[in-house]
Amino acid sequence: MPAVIRDKFGRPIRDLRMAVIDKCNFRCPYCMPAEIFGADYDFLSKSELLTDAEIVRLAGLFAQAGVTKFRITGGEPLLRPNLPDMIAQLARLPNIEDLAMTTNATYLVDHAPALKAAGLYRLTVSLDSLDNEVFQRMNGRRGTVEQVLAGIESAKSAGFTNIKINCVVKKGMNDHTIVDMARFFKSSGHVIRFIEYMDVGNLNGWKMDDVVTASEILQMIDAEMPLEPLDPNYRGEVARRYRYLDGSGEIGLITSVTQPFCSDCTRARLSGAGEYYTCLFAQGGVDLRAPLRSGASDEEILALLTGVWQNRTDRYSELRTSFTDIPVKGAEMYRIGG
Ligand code: GTP
Ligand code: 5AD
Ligand code: SF4
Ligand code: SF4
Repeated sequence: MPAVIRDKFGRPIRDLRMAVIDKCNFRCPYCMPAEIFGADYDFLSKSELLTDAEIVRLAGLFAQAGVTKFRITGGEPLLRPNLPDMIAQLARLPNIEDLAMTTNATYLVDHAPALKAAGLYRLTVSLDSLDNEVFQRMNGRRGTVEQVLAGIESAKSAGFTNIKINCVVKKGMNDHTIVDMARFFKSSGHVIRFIEYMDVGNLNGWKMDDVVTASEILQMIDAEMPLEPLDPNYRGEVARRYRYLDGSGEIGLITSVTQPFCSDCTRARLSGAGEYYTCLFAQGGVDLRAPLRSGASDEEILALLTGVWQNRTDRYSELRTSFTDIPVKGAEMYRIGG
């Protein structure tokens, strides 16, 4: 086993979230507003994106540094050609305990069996409302609830269990549909997580007034379907867990705005272009693509990525509460995958 690499606050590196593409077929206004991400938007070209071999090599080096949990994100990861081939290579890396993917589910109907066969362990599906009109307002009118539910069913048929559903809550947009969402997934075996709308990137015009707090969300659901808290599955788990008193399942609340969880944050991020970020809100990333493409050895790249982690002091969400103005931030969510 590798020695544990810790940052300046003693947090080990455990997770790597890899954005494998920056493109998405949705235009969620809180992530890729359609007026900015039009037909002529300059997404990463094929040569700018890391190749499969580069991603797998970096993942192997992160695993040597101590990462055991990997998550594939985007953009929409299923827009990357031949994704199952790359997943099969990742699944063969030593010491991997978890290999998950976050997707908007549009293309799951076509790809779920291949993803399962490739060795993907887990799936998380984004779905912000079951009301199609509300959902379309939140995805830029690009996909339907029916498609997402069909995607989830295909994943189930392909053998995925414990599928998670992510619902970003924005005040005045979809907060009136939260209880319906909870009720729909209550006995399904899928865990729905409600996410406080975050100020990621610089494009979504975030303001605190847009946030429905996790405690408000909890009250709304608990009033109809009583809940009690559960212990985390593991230290540093992003979602706070609650189970229904009638034993019919659990939900999660992701409280990055009102109850930040930076003190246990063990997550590194890699953009599609090979930038290595030590925080979702980091001002910039460290370029790993240049050393990869100029012949750096495994030892050199490993030293670079462990050195960056050892100097890490990020705790943006904890600091946010003390800011009077939201500072200028770095990367956009669709580039580093959330
Ligand atoms: P599990 O491995 O299933 O526990 O997944 P997860 O909850 O870590 O991952 P997921 O991709 O589903 O993330 C859910 C939401 O939490 C997304 O909106 C993420 O952007 C947000 N999130 C995940 N990690 C962090 C983090 O380190 N900081 C902040 N602020 N938000 C995060
Ligand atoms: N705040 C909270 N969650 C967000 N996501 C995207 N943008 C935001 C935001 N501003 C969610 C997506 C996806 C996950 C990776 O992050 O809906 O489920
Ligand atoms: Fe696409 Fe996800 Fe961003 Fe929506 S939040 S535009 S589905 S990457
Ligand atoms: Fe980790 Fe940064 Fe999120 Fe805090 S804000 S939990 S340090 S990624």
